Amino acid sequence: MNFSLIWAALVNPSKLFSTALNLIVVDQRPDTGASSDASFYPPLDVISYITNAKHGTYGGIFTAPADEETEKIDGTYNYCTMPHPSPDNYQLPSSVQKGTTEAQLIYVEYMQRHQRRTPYNILPGGEDQEYHCDNVHITAGSSSADSSLISVPIHGRDLWAVYGEQLKLLASSPDTRNVWFRASSSPLTHASASAVLRGIWPDYDGSLPLHQQASGIDTVDQGFPCPSRSQLLLTIQSTDEWNQHLAATQDLRDRLAILFNANRTDWMFTFDHFADNFQARLCNGYRLPCSLNDPSKCATEDDAYAVFRAGDWEWNYWWHRNQQASHYIQLTEGLFLQEIALRLTAIKEGTLDRVYSHTFIHDGDLGPILGALGIQQLRWPGMAANIAFEVWKTSDSELYVRVLYSGHPLRTSEGKLDWVPLSKLIRQLNKHVPQDIVAMCSS
Ligand SMILES: *[C@@H]1O[C@H](CO)[C@@H](O)[C@H](O)[C@H]1NC(C)=O
Repeated sequence: MNFSLIWAALVNPSKLFSTALNLIVVDQRPDTGASSDASFYPPLDVISYITNAKHGTYGGIFTAPADEETEKIDGTYNYCTMPHPSPDNYQLPSSVQKGTTEAQLIYVEYMQRHQRRTPYNILPGGEDQEYHCDNVHITAGSSSADSSLISVPIHGRDLWAVYGEQLKLLASSPDTRNVWFRASSSPLTHASASAVLRGIWPDYDGSLPLHQQASGIDTVDQGFPCPSRSQLLLTIQSTDEWNQHLAATQDLRDRLAILFNANRTDWMFTFDHFADNFQARLCNGYRLPCSLNDPSKCATEDDAYAVFRAGDWEWNYWWHRNQQASHYIQLTEGLFLQEIALRLTAIKEGTLDRVYSHTFIHDGDLGPILGALGIQQLRWPGMAANIAFEVWKTSDSELYVRVLYSGHPLRTSEGKLDWVPLSKLIRQLNKHVPQDIVAMCSS
């Protein structure tokens, strides 16, 4: 399978349609209902849990062997390999399942974070372990160099089983007139795309276009420059609440600063770098790091779990909890949300002859998308975290959407997005579409 990159049309800001700006109502009702996917939505609105070691991983999984998927525990937050729609967990929308509604799946908009990787953030004092990545080929169809290892395209195979075999949305050979793929401008998402698409259509040997926007104007992965976005983030990260979370983690940060020579703003001001470093190690079969100066002093499991809890708190705060979340989402993800809203509108109006779109993006894209959808509690979207908008057409020709987050109906402050009129979902997305992104970014 060959992948040709097609440079999508440049974003033309003058074409952006306008829409009323509404702030999200931040609702922090604690989740009391016990359910199989409770580890996705633990309460993240109080700071004290960060320092409370008894919470451990907060029900999540953060470790995996080097060459295999972690054991599949469906419905559990698993940073290394998030669950996805698969024959094991897939359920029809409840009214369809019960037979009270007759409906057919007509379109899926699928978005996912790339798969597992090595750390972006190397400890400032240096690493005490080497990474060996010599057993993987990154090719047009990513696969393991050693055929005895489990090959990578598991995610795609499950999507085929659900959306191809079971629901007959996808054909056994891709029809490029009605399926469409896009990645960010980062090579990492291209590698994920090739692996997943190979898994969906293992026997297809033609080419498939993988669309991409130019990196300087990309509507995903913070591709286009936006000075007021960085400015707003500074404002969001200077509130009393932000400072309380820093104060609560002062001891932890001091200890890590000394162990890893990391007393620098970029390592101390958010938990992004430590979480990324520890997650990448644990998700690839490595242990936590030790100090280069004194190999007997290491980050402990408790340290790592506290870092992960603090990381989750930060994600929930950035994209959901802070007072300016909606504004921040608009500046970060608003143009991409608009692209989705326009596609869904075209499906609604019958002007887009498409059954499936799949976009390969980043945690920094999934966070704001989930925020825009009103997720109840947002943990850091883990590796291969995914969102599926399923558009169903009833026998009365009404269109409904179900939103799956990592294989299960998304829980929002207003309930599960199990069966929502398509026009209502489009309105929800449009609340986060900027009226004039050029003016907003330069103001
Ligand atoms: C980190 O640097 C700041 C500023 O130089 C200093 O006040 C603080 O004590 C340092 N912390 C540690 C743990 O070394």
